[in-house]
Amino acid sequence: MGLTLTEKLIGQSLADGQMIRGQRIGIRAHQTLSHDVNGVMSYLVLEAMGLTRVKVELAVHYIDHNMIQADYKNSDDHRFLQDITAKLGVICSRPGSGICHQLHLEHWGVPGKTLIGADSHTVAAGGIGMFSVGVGGFDGAMTMAGEPLYLTMPKIVNVRLTGKLPPFVSAKNIILELLRRVSIQGGVGKVFEYTGPGIATLNVAERSTITNMGQETGATTSVFPSDENTRRWLRAYHREEQWVPLQADSDAVYDEVIEIDLSQLEPLIALPHQPDKVVPVREAAGVKVDQVMLGSCTNTSLQDVLSIAHMLGGKPIHRDVDAGLYPATRTVVRESIARGAHDKILSAGVRIFEPVCGGCNGCGFAPQSNGVSLRTTPRNFVGRSGTASDKVYLVAPETAAASALTGVITDPRDLKPTPFTYEMPAVFVDDRDMFQPPAAEPENIVIRRGPNLRPIPPMPALPDVTGGEVLVKVGDDITTDHICPAGALYLPIRSNIPELAKHAFKVVDDTFAERAAKAGGGLIVGGFNYGQGSSREQAVMVPRYLGVKAVIARSFARLHLANLVNWGLLPLTFVNGDDFDNISQGDWLTLDTAVLTEGQQIIVRNETKAVAIAVSSPLCQADLDSIKAGGRLNQVKAKNQN
Ligand code: F3S
Repeated sequence: MGLTLTEKLIGQSLADGQMIRGQRIGIRAHQTLSHDVNGVMSYLVLEAMGLTRVKVELAVHYIDHNMIQADYKNSDDHRFLQDITAKLGVICSRPGSGICHQLHLEHWGVPGKTLIGADSHTVAAGGIGMFSVGVGGFDGAMTMAGEPLYLTMPKIVNVRLTGKLPPFVSAKNIILELLRRVSIQGGVGKVFEYTGPGIATLNVAERSTITNMGQETGATTSVFPSDENTRRWLRAYHREEQWVPLQADSDAVYDEVIEIDLSQLEPLIALPHQPDKVVPVREAAGVKVDQVMLGSCTNTSLQDVLSIAHMLGGKPIHRDVDAGLYPATRTVVRESIARGAHDKILSAGVRIFEPVCGGCNGCGFAPQSNGVSLRTTPRNFVGRSGTASDKVYLVAPETAAASALTGVITDPRDLKPTPFTYEMPAVFVDDRDMFQPPAAEPENIVIRRGPNLRPIPPMPALPDVTGGEVLVKVGDDITTDHICPAGALYLPIRSNIPELAKHAFKVVDDTFAERAAKAGGGLIVGGFNYGQGSSREQAVMVPRYLGVKAVIARSFARLHLANLVNWGLLPLTFVNGDDFDNISQGDWLTLDTAVLTEGQQIIVRNETKAVAIAVSSPLCQADLDSIKAGGRLNQVKAKNQN
């Protein structure tokens, strides 16, 4: 029986276990990726562990997420990151070089290797034939330390592409179509492996748009084969010698097959506030648009920027629209300037920002109150733009540019543009000098630490949970942004947990932090897919710091579940999902986790409503032991001391 590409890739980094679907496996990273938001925590963890040099083939750190320098905080963190990466043997991409995922594709991604990155969209590297997994800062640190990452051997879904995209229907619409079909939970426990004749029509940047946003399905990752298009990409970035051909065996066995005929796709749009609320653009046409944000790791390759310039066609954008572009990388900026695209975009009245995440995570381009914002980003969770009352729609660059011109949501084909064709440059401008290599003499590096950097608060071992008040009850698809807000106000205090804790659940309930502190902790109740979205572990550290002992939910998002284990906050799931309705905010629950073991049910008594509710933990015994120890950091520290 032949192997899928996924099995071949996992096989090359398998450190523990067997590749049997549903079983626990350990994989070791060849490469790691970190950035300024999650990376600070990673490096604080590595310091706490006493590591002096990373233990992977290649580690790259990117300063790209929050470039606002309205005071000392971000600048302090950037200096710390530049110093500590130099000391630990990590390559550092300084501010202004570009967004991590696109930069990694351009300069470092190698087909066949495994990349583990402290960011959920690390999966973008599947576009170049890597097995790439997003984790939180703690797991990022552990992988840099050479430890295996444990995950459940996923099911493998064959997404078979046929045909060719019609004009003005670009790659973003392929992943929007997949999200429309499978939903934001449809990828949980799965890898989407792309095959079929349609893949030959897509270059690496287009493939990466698809694998990047595949994260929004909850999938472990997505992957494309490494073929002649991959080779062309590597050649264009001066590293053809790193190419290897990779594909599934012809008799590979998949758990599921999804067919997408590219020629049948049309421009699609995700409505507020979830990436899977997808409809054809024509069904949303006519809605007044206040803001258009072009960019993010998902959609600002050179092809995207040239397509936007073509769509604008020298015309000015609508006077009521505020439009801005975040190009992906310095190389994209230089290449689009050389082709006159920047000039066309600027003269249309679009603001051009530096190549960073910026507006995508609320650090630079928030819309007005109640503003309708069309974005080429991968996410439209409530408030992520920085404006709590936002109405964010997700679209491809062509739809965004067409709508910027008309001032209303517009199918780009309705403007009857002349055809756009893109030929990837044979060679891109050589920008490899923008990376800072590790220090030759690390012992001489003095690490600069500003007052914004606080040590990780102690996370004591978790005593058996006997009960507590339900501090907050939330519904389905609660994101890490709900639990611990993103945005310009909060990201600069990402490494200051006591300060950040004051803003926990702010989007949902302004009084949460105060009530939790007053009660000395308690419990959280959630619906399906609790902790969806980013890999931000502060969404665990903050409730934990406030004394929360357990989260009882209908189900958990994969990355968040891993973070709960890492930082010692107990996840429990309802045995009977309908029992979710038997608990209200403010109820008093009693339980006894002393008897909790893998697969074992225990009873939660709702004393307020006088009902008994069966729960269990989705964790294996090793992870339950980590929870009792107060998280994996405590275990690693204890191991190092012995
Ligand atoms: Fe950055 Fe947004 Fe991508 S925060 S990594 S551009 S999803």
